[in-house]
Amino acid sequence: MLEYILIAVAWPYANGPLHLGQIAGAYLPADIFARYHRMKGNHVLMVSGSDMHGTPITMRADRVGTTPEDVARRYHKGFLDAWGKLGISFDLFTSTHTENHTEVVHDLFRTLMDKGYIYKGSMPSAYCPRCDRYLPDRYVEGECPYCHASSARGDQCPDCSKTLNPDELINPRCTICGGTPEIRSSEHLFLELSKFSQQLEGWVKSQTHWKPNVSSLTMRYLKEGLRDRAITRDIRWGVPVPVEGFENKRIYVWFEAVTGYLSASKEWAKMNGDEEMWRPFWEGNAKPYYFIGKDNIPFHTLIWPAMLMGYGGLKLPHDVPANEFLTLENRPLSTSRKWAVWVPEYLERYDPDPLRYILSINMPETGDTDFSWREFVRRNNDELVATYGNLVNRAVKFTYRNFDGHVPPLGELDAADNAILAKARETMDSVDKALGNCHFREGIKAAFNLAQETNRYLDNKAPWKVIKQDRDSAAKTLGVALGVISCLERIMYPFLPFSSEKVHQLLGSPGRTQDSGWEFHFPLTGQALAEPEPLFTKLDEEVAAEETAKLGT
Ligand code: MF3
Ligand code: ZN
Repeated sequence: MLEYILIAVAWPYANGPLHLGQIAGAYLPADIFARYHRMKGNHVLMVSGSDMHGTPITMRADRVGTTPEDVARRYHKGFLDAWGKLGISFDLFTSTHTENHTEVVHDLFRTLMDKGYIYKGSMPSAYCPRCDRYLPDRYVEGECPYCHASSARGDQCPDCSKTLNPDELINPRCTICGGTPEIRSSEHLFLELSKFSQQLEGWVKSQTHWKPNVSSLTMRYLKEGLRDRAITRDIRWGVPVPVEGFENKRIYVWFEAVTGYLSASKEWAKMNGDEEMWRPFWEGNAKPYYFIGKDNIPFHTLIWPAMLMGYGGLKLPHDVPANEFLTLENRPLSTSRKWAVWVPEYLERYDPDPLRYILSINMPETGDTDFSWREFVRRNNDELVATYGNLVNRAVKFTYRNFDGHVPPLGELDAADNAILAKARETMDSVDKALGNCHFREGIKAAFNLAQETNRYLDNKAPWKVIKQDRDSAAKTLGVALGVISCLERIMYPFLPFSSEKVHQLLGSPGRTQDSGWEFHFPLTGQALAEPEPLFTKLDEEVAAEETAKLGT
Protein backbone atom coordinates (compact mmCIF):
# COMPACT_ATOMS: atom_id res chain seq x y z
CA MET A 1 0.00 0.00 0.00
CA LEU A 2 1.27 3.46 -0.83
CA GLU A 3 2.20 5.57 2.14
CA TYR A 4 1.95 9.25 2.93
CA ILE A 5 5.38 10.38 4.07
CA LEU A 6 5.73 13.87 5.49
CA ILE A 7 9.37 14.92 5.46
CA ALA A 8 9.68 17.86 7.81
CA VAL A 9 13.11 19.43 7.83
CA ALA A 10 14.56 21.87 10.37
CA TRP A 11 14.02 25.52 9.50
CA PRO A 12 17.38 27.23 9.17
CA TYR A 13 17.74 30.68 10.69
CA ALA A 14 18.03 33.11 7.80
CA ASN A 15 20.94 34.93 9.38
CA GLY A 16 23.89 33.52 7.48
CA PRO A 17 24.82 31.18 4.67
CA LEU A 18 24.45 27.42 5.08
CA HIS A 19 27.45 25.39 6.11
CA LEU A 20 28.27 21.72 5.66
CA GLY A 21 27.23 20.83 9.21
CA GLN A 22 23.64 21.75 8.44
CA ILE A 23 23.68 19.77 5.20
CA ALA A 24 25.04 16.64 6.88
CA GLY A 25 22.80 17.10 9.90
CA ALA A 26 19.42 17.51 8.26
CA TYR A 27 19.05 18.55 4.62
CA LEU A 28 20.94 15.75 2.91
CA PRO A 29 19.43 12.87 4.90
CA ALA A 30 15.97 14.39 4.37
CA ASP A 31 16.56 14.65 0.64
CA ILE A 32 17.89 11.09 0.35
CA PHE A 33 14.81 9.89 2.17
CA ALA A 34 12.47 11.94 -0.02
CA ARG A 35 14.03 10.77 -3.28
CA TYR A 36 13.96 7.18 -2.09
CA HIS A 37 10.28 7.32 -1.17
CA ARG A 38 9.32 9.08 -4.39
CA MET A 39 11.08 6.31 -6.31
CA LYS A 40 9.15 3.74 -4.30
CA GLY A 41 6.01 5.45 -5.51
CA ASN A 42 4.95 6.75 -2.10
CA HIS A 43 3.32 10.13 -1.61
CA VAL A 44 5.98 12.50 -0.33
CA LEU A 45 5.63 15.99 1.03
CA MET A 46 8.98 17.56 1.93
CA VAL A 47 8.70 20.97 3.52
CA SER A 48 10.72 23.50 5.43
CA GLY A 49 11.46 27.19 5.23
CA SER A 50 13.56 30.01 6.53
CA ASP A 51 13.26 30.72 10.23
CA MET A 52 13.03 34.49 9.87
CA HIS A 53 12.14 35.59 13.36
CA GLY A 54 13.76 35.65 16.76
CA THR A 55 16.94 37.09 18.07
CA PRO A 56 19.34 35.24 15.78
CA ILE A 57 17.96 37.46 13.01
CA THR A 58 17.76 40.71 15.00
CA MET A 59 21.27 40.25 16.34
CA ARG A 60 22.62 39.84 12.85
CA ALA A 61 20.67 42.88 11.65
CA ASP A 62 22.02 44.96 14.55
CA ARG A 63 25.55 43.89 13.77
CA VAL A 64 25.45 44.82 10.10
CA GLY A 65 23.20 47.85 10.59
CA THR A 66 20.14 46.82 8.63
CA THR A 67 16.62 45.56 9.30
CA PRO A 68 15.77 42.01 10.34
CA GLU A 69 13.57 41.73 7.26
CA ASP A 70 16.45 42.65 4.99
CA VAL A 71 18.76 40.09 6.59
CA ALA A 72 16.14 37.37 6.37
CA ARG A 73 15.23 38.03 2.74
CA ARG A 74 18.82 38.03 1.67
CA TYR A 75 19.74 34.69 3.21
CA HIS A 76 16.44 33.13 2.21
CA LYS A 77 17.36 33.74 -1.43
CA GLY A 78 20.73 32.13 -0.79
CA PHE A 79 19.03 29.06 0.68
CA LEU A 80 16.79 28.63 -2.36
CA ASP A 81 19.78 28.88 -4.62
CA ALA A 82 21.70 26.28 -2.57
CA TRP A 83 18.78 23.80 -2.61
CA GLY A 84 18.60 24.04 -6.38
CA LYS A 85 22.29 23.51 -6.93
CA LEU A 86 22.70 20.80 -4.29
CA GLY A 87 19.58 18.99 -5.41
CA ILE A 88 17.74 19.27 -2.09
CA SER A 89 14.30 18.59 -3.52
CA PHE A 90 11.81 20.42 -1.32
CA ASP A 91 8.19 20.38 -2.37
CA LEU A 92 8.03 23.74 -0.64
CA PHE A 93 10.67 25.81 1.07
CA THR A 94 8.83 28.83 2.43
CA SER A 95 9.47 31.12 5.39
CA THR A 96 7.97 32.03 8.74
CA HIS A 97 7.36 35.58 7.54
CA THR A 98 4.16 34.92 5.58
CA GLU A 99 0.51 35.68 6.22
CA ASN A 100 -0.38 32.03 5.98
CA HIS A 101 2.15 31.18 8.68
CA THR A 102 0.79 33.85 11.01
CA GLU A 103 -2.75 32.52 10.50
CA VAL A 104 -1.77 28.93 11.24
CA VAL A 105 0.26 29.95 14.29
CA HIS A 106 -2.65 32.04 15.58
CA ASP A 107 -5.08 29.16 15.09
CA LEU A 108 -2.82 26.86 17.09
CA PHE A 109 -2.19 29.49 19.75
CA ARG A 110 -5.88 30.31 20.19
CA THR A 111 -6.92 26.67 20.25
CA LEU A 112 -4.37 25.83 22.93
CA MET A 113 -5.49 28.87 24.87
CA ASP A 114 -9.19 27.98 24.56
CA LYS A 115 -8.44 24.47 25.74
CA GLY A 116 -6.68 25.84 28.79
CA TYR A 117 -3.11 24.88 27.92
CA ILE A 118 -1.85 28.45 27.82
CA TYR A 119 -2.01 30.71 30.87
CA LYS A 120 -0.91 34.19 31.86
CA GLY A 121 1.90 34.60 34.30
CA SER A 122 4.89 36.70 34.99
CA MET A 123 8.41 35.84 34.23
CA PRO A 124 11.59 37.29 35.53
CA SER A 125 13.21 38.82 32.46
CA ALA A 126 16.63 40.25 31.96
CA TYR A 127 16.48 44.03 31.62
CA CYS A 128 19.55 46.06 30.80
CA PRO A 129 19.36 49.46 32.55
CA ARG A 130 22.17 50.84 30.43
CA CYS A 131 20.53 49.83 27.15
CA ASP A 132 17.07 50.62 28.60
CA ARG A 133 15.47 47.50 27.16
CA TYR A 134 14.44 43.97 27.94
CA LEU A 135 17.06 41.57 26.71
CA PRO A 136 15.93 38.58 24.69
CA ASP A 137 17.39 35.26 25.85
CA ARG A 138 20.25 35.23 23.42
CA TYR A 139 21.32 38.73 24.39
CA VAL A 140 22.28 37.46 27.82
CA GLU A 141 25.28 35.28 28.42
CA GLY A 142 26.76 33.81 31.55
CA GLU A 143 27.82 30.68 33.33
CA CYS A 144 25.67 27.57 32.97
CA PRO A 145 24.14 26.62 36.35
CA TYR A 146 24.40 22.92 35.43
CA CYS A 147 27.73 22.28 33.72
CA HIS A 148 29.37 25.62 34.50
CA ALA A 149 30.44 26.28 30.94
CA SER A 150 31.16 30.00 30.69
CA SER A 151 29.34 30.76 27.44
CA ALA A 152 25.81 29.65 28.23
CA ARG A 153 23.06 31.76 26.67
CA GLY A 154 19.78 32.80 28.18
CA ASP A 155 17.94 30.08 26.25
CA GLN A 156 20.28 27.13 26.22
CA CYS A 157 23.73 25.96 27.18
CA PRO A 158 25.64 24.94 24.06
CA ASP A 159 27.84 22.61 26.12
CA CYS A 160 25.35 20.45 28.03
CA SER A 161 22.38 21.43 25.79
CA LYS A 162 20.07 22.07 28.79
CA THR A 163 17.39 24.65 28.09
CA LEU A 164 17.66 27.63 30.39
CA ASN A 165 15.91 30.79 31.46
CA PRO A 166 18.00 33.95 31.54
CA ASP A 167 17.60 34.40 35.29
CA GLU A 168 19.28 31.05 35.91
CA LEU A 169 22.61 32.17 34.48
CA ILE A 170 25.43 32.79 36.93
CA ASN A 171 27.10 36.21 36.46
CA PRO A 172 24.90 37.27 33.55
CA ARG A 173 26.06 39.97 31.16
CA CYS A 174 24.37 41.99 28.42
CA THR A 175 25.88 41.08 25.07
CA ILE A 176 25.08 44.51 23.66
CA CYS A 177 26.88 46.69 26.16
CA GLY A 178 28.62 44.19 28.45
CA GLY A 179 26.76 45.56 31.48
CA THR A 180 25.03 43.52 34.15
CA PRO A 181 21.33 43.04 33.46
CA GLU A 182 18.72 43.29 36.22
CA ILE A 183 15.97 40.80 36.57
CA ARG A 184 12.56 42.46 36.22
CA SER A 185 9.18 40.89 36.18
CA SER A 186 7.30 40.94 32.88
CA GLU A 187 3.92 39.50 31.96
CA HIS A 188 3.93 36.57 29.53
CA LEU A 189 1.89 33.64 28.30
CA PHE A 190 2.97 30.14 29.27
CA LEU A 191 2.49 26.79 27.60
CA GLU A 192 1.55 24.27 30.26
CA LEU A 193 4.04 21.62 29.22
CA SER A 194 3.94 19.95 32.61
CA LYS A 195 0.37 18.88 31.87
CA PHE A 196 1.62 16.70 29.01
CA SER A 197 4.40 14.92 30.91
CA GLN A 198 2.64 11.61 31.39
CA GLN A 199 1.16 11.45 27.95
CA LEU A 200 4.53 12.36 26.44
CA GLU A 201 6.37 9.78 28.48
CA GLY A 202 4.02 7.00 27.45
CA TRP A 203 4.30 8.01 23.84
CA VAL A 204 8.10 8.37 23.84
CA LYS A 205 8.48 4.95 25.49
CA SER A 206 6.38 3.36 22.76
CA GLN A 207 8.64 4.80 20.03
CA THR A 208 11.01 1.84 20.07
CA HIS A 209 12.16 2.50 16.51
CA TRP A 210 13.78 5.85 17.40
CA LYS A 211 17.55 6.14 17.45
CA PRO A 212 18.99 5.48 20.92
CA ASN A 213 20.53 8.97 21.12
CA VAL A 214 17.18 10.61 20.38
CA SER A 215 15.23 8.47 22.85
CA SER A 216 17.72 8.76 25.65
CA LEU A 217 18.10 12.52 25.42
CA THR A 218 14.31 12.86 25.35
CA MET A 219 13.88 10.56 28.33
CA ARG A 220 16.49 12.57 30.20
CA TYR A 221 14.40 15.71 29.78
CA LEU A 222 11.29 13.87 30.91
CA LYS A 223 13.02 12.47 34.00
CA GLU A 224 14.20 15.94 34.93
CA GLY A 225 10.60 17.08 34.74
CA LEU A 226 9.07 19.33 32.10
CA ARG A 227 8.63 22.93 33.14
CA ASP A 228 6.01 25.22 31.68
CA ARG A 229 7.58 27.56 29.16
CA ALA A 230 6.92 31.17 28.33
CA ILE A 231 5.87 31.34 24.71
CA THR A 232 5.91 35.12 24.36
CA ARG A 233 8.88 37.47 24.40
CA ASP A 234 9.63 41.16 24.89
CA ILE A 235 10.71 41.75 21.33
CA ARG A 236 9.17 43.54 18.33
CA TRP A 237 10.25 41.27 15.49
CA GLY A 238 8.15 38.16 15.05
CA VAL A 239 4.58 36.88 14.97
CA PRO A 240 2.20 39.11 16.97
CA VAL A 241 0.47 37.60 20.02
CA PRO A 242 -3.27 37.28 19.33
CA VAL A 243 -4.19 38.37 22.87
CA GLU A 244 -5.15 41.78 24.20
CA GLY A 245 -2.51 43.52 26.23
CA PHE A 246 0.34 41.75 24.44
CA GLU A 247 0.65 44.16 21.52
CA ASN A 248 4.26 44.95 22.35
CA LYS A 249 5.32 41.33 22.58
CA ARG A 250 5.84 38.59 20.04
CA ILE A 251 5.38 34.83 20.02
CA TYR A 252 8.49 32.94 21.05
CA VAL A 253 10.38 31.95 17.92
CA TRP A 254 10.47 28.25 18.73
CA PHE A 255 6.73 28.05 19.28
CA GLU A 256 6.02 29.51 15.86
CA ALA A 257 8.93 27.94 13.96
CA VAL A 258 7.89 24.36 14.75
CA THR A 259 4.37 25.30 13.70
CA GLY A 260 5.96 26.04 10.33
CA TYR A 261 5.78 22.36 9.42
CA LEU A 262 2.01 22.60 9.48
CA SER A 263 1.75 26.05 7.92
CA ALA A 264 4.11 25.06 5.09
CA SER A 265 2.04 21.94 4.42
CA LYS A 266 -1.08 24.08 4.20
CA GLU A 267 0.65 26.61 1.97
CA TRP A 268 1.76 23.81 -0.34
CA ALA A 269 -1.82 22.56 -0.55
CA LYS A 270 -3.12 26.03 -1.45
CA MET A 271 -0.36 26.44 -3.98
CA ASN A 272 -1.52 23.23 -5.64
CA GLY A 273 -5.10 24.39 -5.79
CA ASP A 274 -6.52 21.95 -3.23
CA GLU A 275 -6.70 23.38 0.27
CA GLU A 276 -7.26 19.97 1.84
CA MET A 277 -4.34 18.22 0.18
CA TRP A 278 -2.13 18.50 3.27
CA ARG A 279 -4.45 16.35 5.38
CA PRO A 280 -3.33 12.83 4.36
CA PHE A 281 0.20 13.84 5.39
CA TRP A 282 -0.98 14.84 8.87
CA GLU A 283 -3.86 12.52 9.64
CA GLY A 284 -4.80 8.84 9.58
CA ASN A 285 -1.90 6.62 8.61
CA ALA A 286 0.47 9.43 7.70
CA LYS A 287 4.09 8.97 8.67
CA PRO A 288 5.73 12.26 9.61
CA TYR A 289 9.54 12.21 9.81
CA TYR A 290 11.45 15.15 11.27
CA PHE A 291 15.02 15.64 10.05
CA ILE A 292 16.94 17.83 12.44
CA GLY A 293 20.32 18.25 14.12
CA LYS A 294 20.80 17.00 17.66
CA ASP A 295 20.61 20.48 19.20
CA ASN A 296 16.94 20.61 18.14
CA ILE A 297 15.84 17.30 19.65
CA PRO A 298 13.66 18.44 22.62
CA PHE A 299 11.74 20.88 20.46
CA HIS A 300 10.71 18.03 18.16
CA THR A 301 10.31 15.14 20.58
CA LEU A 302 8.61 17.04 23.42
CA ILE A 303 7.49 20.61 22.78
CA TRP A 304 6.04 20.22 19.29
CA PRO A 305 4.41 16.87 20.18
CA ALA A 306 2.88 18.50 23.28
CA MET A 307 1.52 21.30 21.09
CA LEU A 308 0.06 18.72 18.71
CA MET A 309 -1.45 16.72 21.57
CA GLY A 310 -3.07 19.86 22.90
CA TYR A 311 -4.36 20.91 19.50
CA GLY A 312 -5.68 17.44 18.70
CA GLY A 313 -6.39 15.52 15.52
CA LEU A 314 -2.92 15.68 13.94
CA LYS A 315 -0.28 12.96 13.78
CA LEU A 316 2.66 13.04 16.17
CA PRO A 317 6.13 12.50 14.72
CA HIS A 318 6.66 8.96 13.51
CA ASP A 319 10.42 9.34 13.71
CA VAL A 320 12.93 12.06 14.51
CA PRO A 321 16.15 10.72 13.02
CA ALA A 322 18.31 13.50 14.42
CA ASN A 323 21.94 13.44 13.44
CA GLU A 324 24.94 14.22 15.59
CA PHE A 325 27.45 16.87 14.61
CA LEU A 326 29.97 17.11 11.82
CA THR A 327 33.40 18.33 12.84
CA LEU A 328 35.73 20.01 10.39
CA GLU A 329 39.37 18.92 10.27
CA ASN A 330 38.77 17.45 13.74
CA ARG A 331 37.57 20.67 15.29
CA PRO A 332 34.02 21.75 16.06
CA LEU A 333 32.45 23.91 13.39
CA SER A 334 32.31 27.51 14.46
CA THR A 335 30.80 30.21 12.32
CA SER A 336 32.21 32.99 14.52
CA ARG A 337 35.73 31.59 14.25
CA LYS A 338 35.17 31.05 10.51
CA TRP A 339 35.87 27.38 10.98
CA ALA A 340 33.28 26.28 8.46
CA VAL A 341 32.80 25.35 4.84
CA TRP A 342 30.07 27.51 3.35
CA VAL A 343 27.74 25.85 0.87
CA PRO A 344 27.64 28.72 -1.68
CA GLU A 345 31.44 28.80 -1.78
CA TYR A 346 31.67 25.06 -2.16
CA LEU A 347 29.18 25.14 -5.03
CA GLU A 348 31.13 27.80 -6.88
CA ARG A 349 34.06 25.45 -7.15
CA TYR A 350 32.85 21.85 -7.08
CA ASP A 351 30.01 19.59 -8.16
CA PRO A 352 27.16 18.68 -5.84
CA ASP A 353 27.43 14.88 -6.02
CA PRO A 354 30.94 14.56 -4.54
CA LEU A 355 29.74 16.52 -1.51
CA ARG A 356 26.57 14.47 -1.26
CA TYR A 357 28.70 11.35 -1.50
CA ILE A 358 31.20 12.16 1.22
CA LEU A 359 28.51 13.48 3.56
CA SER A 360 26.46 10.32 2.99
CA ILE A 361 29.22 7.79 3.49
CA ASN A 362 30.46 9.77 6.46
CA MET A 363 27.12 10.90 7.85
CA PRO A 364 27.04 11.70 11.60
CA GLU A 365 24.17 9.27 12.10
CA THR A 366 25.18 7.59 15.33
CA GLY A 367 28.03 9.77 16.50
CA ASP A 368 29.99 12.83 15.40
CA THR A 369 32.00 12.42 12.21
CA ASP A 370 34.70 14.52 10.64
CA PHE A 371 34.91 16.25 7.28
CA SER A 372 38.38 16.90 5.99
CA TRP A 373 39.40 18.21 2.61
CA ARG A 374 42.00 15.47 2.22
CA GLU A 375 39.32 12.84 2.72
CA PHE A 376 37.10 14.72 0.30
CA VAL A 377 39.74 14.67 -2.44
CA ARG A 378 40.70 11.08 -1.70
CA ARG A 379 37.14 9.79 -1.77
CA ASN A 380 36.36 11.78 -4.89
CA ASN A 381 39.39 10.43 -6.73
CA ASP A 382 39.56 6.87 -5.42
CA GLU A 383 35.92 6.08 -4.95
CA LEU A 384 33.78 8.23 -7.24
CA VAL A 385 36.21 8.57 -10.14
CA ALA A 386 38.22 5.34 -9.89
CA THR A 387 35.51 2.93 -8.74
CA TYR A 388 32.03 3.99 -9.81
CA GLY A 389 32.92 6.45 -12.59
CA ASN A 390 35.48 4.14 -14.10
CA LEU A 391 33.11 1.18 -14.07
CA VAL A 392 30.44 3.11 -15.94
CA ASN A 393 32.93 4.68 -18.28
CA ARG A 394 34.72 1.56 -19.40
CA ALA A 395 31.60 -0.56 -19.75
CA VAL A 396 29.72 2.05 -21.75
CA LYS A 397 32.69 3.11 -23.85
CA PHE A 398 33.74 -0.39 -24.79
CA THR A 399 30.23 -1.40 -25.72
CA TYR A 400 29.62 1.83 -27.61
CA ARG A 401 32.72 1.34 -29.73
CA ASN A 402 32.48 -2.39 -30.36
CA PHE A 403 28.79 -3.05 -30.60
CA ASP A 404 27.64 -0.26 -32.76
CA GLY A 405 26.44 1.92 -29.90
CA HIS A 406 23.83 -0.57 -28.68
CA VAL A 407 23.48 -2.92 -25.71
CA PRO A 408 24.14 -6.35 -27.25
CA PRO A 409 22.03 -9.50 -26.67
CA LEU A 410 22.85 -11.73 -23.72
CA GLY A 411 22.98 -15.37 -24.72
CA GLU A 412 23.39 -18.02 -22.06
CA LEU A 413 24.46 -16.86 -18.59
CA ASP A 414 27.15 -18.67 -16.60
CA ALA A 415 27.70 -18.88 -12.85
CA ALA A 416 29.69 -15.65 -12.61
CA ASP A 417 27.03 -13.75 -14.60
CA ASN A 418 24.27 -15.10 -12.38
CA ALA A 419 26.26 -14.34 -9.25
CA ILE A 420 26.72 -10.65 -10.06
CA LEU A 421 23.07 -10.33 -11.08
CA ALA A 422 21.99 -11.97 -7.83
CA LYS A 423 24.27 -9.61 -5.93
CA ALA A 424 22.61 -6.67 -7.70
CA ARG A 425 19.15 -7.88 -6.67
CA GLU A 426 20.24 -8.46 -3.09
CA THR A 427 21.84 -5.04 -2.92
CA MET A 428 18.70 -3.42 -4.22
CA ASP A 429 16.82 -5.07 -1.33
CA SER A 430 19.36 -4.23 1.30
CA VAL A 431 19.62 -0.57 0.23
CA ASP A 432 15.83 -0.50 0.22
CA LYS A 433 15.70 -1.69 3.83
CA ALA A 434 18.53 0.57 4.95
CA LEU A 435 16.90 3.66 3.47
CA GLY A 436 13.47 2.79 4.80
CA ASN A 437 15.05 2.72 8.27
CA CYS A 438 17.01 5.94 7.73
CA HIS A 439 20.33 4.07 7.79
CA PHE A 440 21.92 6.18 5.11
CA ARG A 441 25.55 5.25 5.59
CA GLU A 442 24.72 1.59 5.41
CA GLY A 443 22.79 2.22 2.18
CA ILE A 444 25.53 4.04 0.31
CA LYS A 445 28.14 1.54 1.51
CA ALA A 446 26.12 -1.37 0.15
CA ALA A 447 25.66 0.44 -3.16
CA PHE A 448 29.39 1.10 -3.47
CA ASN A 449 30.18 -2.44 -2.58
CA LEU A 450 28.16 -3.53 -5.60
CA ALA A 451 30.13 -1.12 -7.80
CA GLN A 452 33.37 -2.68 -6.57
CA GLU A 453 32.14 -6.20 -7.21
CA THR A 454 31.02 -5.26 -10.67
CA ASN A 455 34.50 -3.92 -11.41
CA ARG A 456 35.92 -7.24 -10.26
CA TYR A 457 33.45 -9.12 -12.41
CA LEU A 458 34.51 -7.10 -15.46
CA ASP A 459 38.21 -7.54 -14.66
CA ASN A 460 37.79 -11.31 -14.42
CA LYS A 461 35.73 -11.54 -17.58
CA ALA A 462 38.03 -9.17 -19.48
CA PRO A 463 35.67 -8.69 -22.45
CA TRP A 464 38.33 -6.51 -24.14
CA LYS A 465 40.47 -9.68 -24.50
CA VAL A 466 37.70 -12.21 -24.98
CA ILE A 467 36.17 -10.25 -27.86
CA LYS A 468 39.03 -11.30 -30.10
CA GLN A 469 38.11 -15.00 -29.91
CA ASP A 470 34.51 -15.01 -28.72
CA ARG A 471 32.47 -11.95 -29.60
CA ASP A 472 29.21 -13.36 -28.22
CA SER A 473 30.70 -14.05 -24.84
CA ALA A 474 32.11 -10.51 -24.61
CA ALA A 475 28.69 -9.19 -25.64
CA LYS A 476 27.01 -11.12 -22.86
CA THR A 477 29.47 -9.85 -20.22
CA LEU A 478 28.82 -6.27 -21.27
CA GLY A 479 25.07 -6.81 -21.31
CA VAL A 480 25.25 -8.12 -17.77
CA ALA A 481 27.58 -5.31 -16.60
CA LEU A 482 25.38 -2.61 -18.14
CA GLY A 483 22.35 -4.19 -16.48
CA VAL A 484 24.05 -4.04 -13.10
CA ILE A 485 25.06 -0.45 -13.82
CA SER A 486 21.42 0.44 -14.39
CA CYS A 487 20.68 -1.09 -10.99
CA LEU A 488 23.51 0.98 -9.47
CA GLU A 489 22.10 4.08 -11.12
CA ARG A 490 18.83 3.52 -9.26
CA ILE A 491 20.18 2.68 -5.84
CA MET A 492 22.70 5.55 -6.02
CA TYR A 493 19.99 7.99 -7.11
CA PRO A 494 18.82 9.12 -3.66
CA PHE A 495 22.44 9.93 -2.79
CA LEU A 496 23.84 11.03 -6.16
CA PRO A 497 20.90 12.26 -8.22
CA PHE A 498 22.88 14.25 -10.77
CA SER A 499 25.21 11.44 -11.78
CA SER A 500 22.40 8.90 -11.79
CA GLU A 501 20.50 10.94 -14.34
CA LYS A 502 23.69 11.06 -16.42
CA VAL A 503 24.08 7.29 -16.23
CA HIS A 504 20.45 6.92 -17.24
CA GLN A 505 21.15 8.94 -20.38
CA LEU A 506 24.38 7.11 -21.14
CA LEU A 507 22.50 3.81 -21.01
CA GLY A 508 19.84 5.16 -23.34
CA SER A 509 17.08 4.27 -20.87
CA PRO A 510 13.74 5.97 -21.45
CA GLY A 511 12.65 8.91 -19.30
CA ARG A 512 14.58 9.79 -16.17
CA THR A 513 15.94 7.86 -13.20
CA GLN A 514 13.63 9.70 -10.84
CA ASP A 515 10.57 8.30 -12.60
CA SER A 516 11.94 4.79 -13.07
CA GLY A 517 10.75 3.21 -9.86
CA TRP A 518 12.71 1.14 -7.36
CA GLU A 519 13.09 -1.79 -9.74
CA PHE A 520 15.78 -3.76 -11.44
CA HIS A 521 15.16 -3.50 -15.18
CA PHE A 522 17.06 -6.25 -16.92
CA PRO A 523 18.22 -6.81 -19.62
CA LEU A 524 18.75 -3.58 -21.52
CA THR A 525 19.27 -5.36 -24.85
CA GLY A 526 18.91 -3.08 -27.84
CA GLN A 527 19.08 0.23 -25.96
CA ALA A 528 21.03 2.91 -27.81
CA LEU A 529 23.92 4.12 -25.70
CA ALA A 530 25.00 7.73 -25.65
CA GLU A 531 28.49 8.84 -26.50
CA PRO A 532 30.32 8.29 -23.19
CA GLU A 533 31.62 11.15 -21.11
CA PRO A 534 33.15 10.95 -17.63
CA LEU A 535 30.72 10.94 -14.71
CA PHE A 536 33.03 12.59 -12.18
CA THR A 537 36.02 14.91 -12.30
CA LYS A 538 39.34 14.04 -10.74
CA LEU A 539 40.55 16.68 -8.29
CA ASP A 540 44.10 17.86 -7.95
CA GLU A 541 45.75 16.85 -4.67
CA GLU A 542 46.54 20.54 -4.18
CA VAL A 543 42.87 21.24 -3.57
CA ALA A 544 43.08 19.78 -0.07
CA ALA A 545 45.92 22.05 1.01
CA GLU A 546 44.40 25.12 -0.62
CA GLU A 547 41.00 24.65 0.98
CA THR A 548 42.36 23.78 4.40
CA ALA A 549 44.49 26.92 4.37
CA LYS A 550 41.35 29.05 3.95
CA LEU A 551 39.78 27.80 7.17
CA GLY A 552 39.74 30.17 10.11
CA THR A 553 40.66 33.18 8.01
N1 MF3 B 1 16.04 27.76 13.34
C1 MF3 B 1 16.36 26.69 14.26
C2 MF3 B 1 17.85 26.39 14.22
O1 MF3 B 1 18.46 26.68 13.23
C3 MF3 B 1 15.69 25.41 13.90
C4 MF3 B 1 14.29 25.48 13.96
S1 MF3 B 1 13.63 24.01 13.49
C5 MF3 B 1 12.03 24.38 13.66
O2 MF3 B 1 18.34 25.83 15.18
F1 MF3 B 1 11.36 23.57 13.09
F2 MF3 B 1 11.73 24.42 14.88
F3 MF3 B 1 11.82 25.50 13.12
ZN1 ZN C 1 23.19 46.49 27.86
